[in-house]
Amino acid sequence: MDNQITIRKAIHKKDAKDIAALAREIWTEHYTPIIGAEQVEYMLEKFQSEEAIFNQINSQGYIYYMAFCEGKLSGYLSIKPDEVAKEVFLSKLYVEKSFRKKGIAKEFISMLKELYKKPQFNSIWLTVNKNNKGSIAAYHKLGFKIVDEMVTDIGNGFVMDDYKMSMEL
Ligand SMILES: CC(C)(COP(=O)(O)OP(=O)(O)OC[C@H]1O[C@@H](n2cnc3c(N)ncnc32)[C@H](O)[C@@H]1OP(=O)(O)O)[C@@H](O)C(=O)NCCC(=O)NCCS
Repeated sequence: MDNQITIRKAIHKKDAKDIAALAREIWTEHYTPIIGAEQVEYMLEKFQSEEAIFNQINSQGYIYYMAFCEGKLSGYLSIKPDEVAKEVFLSKLYVEKSFRKKGIAKEFISMLKELYKKPQFNSIWLTVNKNNKGSIAAYHKLGFKIVDEMVTDIGNGFVMDDYKMSMEL
């Protein structure tokens, strides 16, 4: 399966548009039962619209990667490396439903381990909703451990109730 997955960096406006469309599909399906339709819509507009993604890439230090499987955009990853803290923040990791459990997340994490190593970087960390059970299980399998709990106010009366997970590099 692995050799059918190709990964490349998102650069163009069209990449941001394609990721935004995939984000809408995945988030609507996956998060509506967890956080409700209203918060999903708010978060998509604020963090995963074409404009928001393009802006994160060009002026907020985020790097987006796109995974293609069978010629189709099937997942995406967003990270923000922090050279001072020697940490990589894994901001987004989403795989389209029909492409899950085929090793795409594992490919993304292997790529990060190749790109970010000691002594320049010590760890990768992420936040995941406490009720996102399947993804927490997947992150454990990928080598992450729960290290903390975080409640983040994202405005409009919405909060994210998350675990912080981390992996040593
Ligand atoms: C979490 C997610 C990114 C994993 O991606 P994926 O490409 O399916 O993961 P992989 O196929 O690389 O699997 C990696 C490992 O996790 C395991 N795994 C994957 N999904 C799992 C699940 N739902 N429950 C338990 N284990 C799971 C795999 O079996 C594999 O373990 P192995 O190495 O022992 O074989 C994907 O399920 C997803 O996009 N979920 C919905 C969105 C989401 O919640 N994203 C995370 C936001 S914080």
